[in-house]
Amino acid sequence: MISEAMIKQINAQIANEFGAAHKYLAIACFFDDLALPALTAFFEKQSDEEREHAGKFIKYLRDVNARVTLHQITKPEASWQTPLDAIQTALDSELTVTKQINDLVDLAIKENDHATRGFLNWFVSEQVEEVSTMTTLRDAAKLAGQDYLRLNAYVRHWNTEAE
Ligand SMILES: [Fe+2]
Ligand SMILES: [Fe+2]
Repeated sequence: MISEAMIKQINAQIANEFGAAHKYLAIACFFDDLALPALTAFFEKQSDEEREHAGKFIKYLRDVNARVTLHQITKPEASWQTPLDAIQTALDSELTVTKQINDLVDLAIKENDHATRGFLNWFVSEQVEEVSTMTTLRDAAKLAGQDYLRLNAYVRHWNTEAE
């Protein structure tokens, strides 16, 4: 049986994932304003993925017959000084989400909730990927410096690889 505490924490995580989707959409719009289409597309895709993450948590709660409670989403930051600042916001967000996922795993272990722990394994691996991708992008932004078009070209290469 899934505990009330676990249901509550997963519902909070659904809001965190939607919050991350919102944050990435704001970053995508920021890059669109700068006329950097590959970075815009990259963050739109990240935003879609975060919405999928929220969907996975929602499906899990429904699968275990637990009630889904949707929370209010925090208004995201909307402007940054530089692309590097926006990307740093994204990296910080991934590090925060990693901690949230680890806290969920800690609770599942504490409660001997093997089903939820198994479900969370996908998210543990996903966070390794997302932190790695965002760290690489942050480092690339540092290397590119003021050459935003070069950073955009670098990400365009990534976007095509992913297709
Ligand atoms: Fe996520
Ligand atoms: Fe993420």
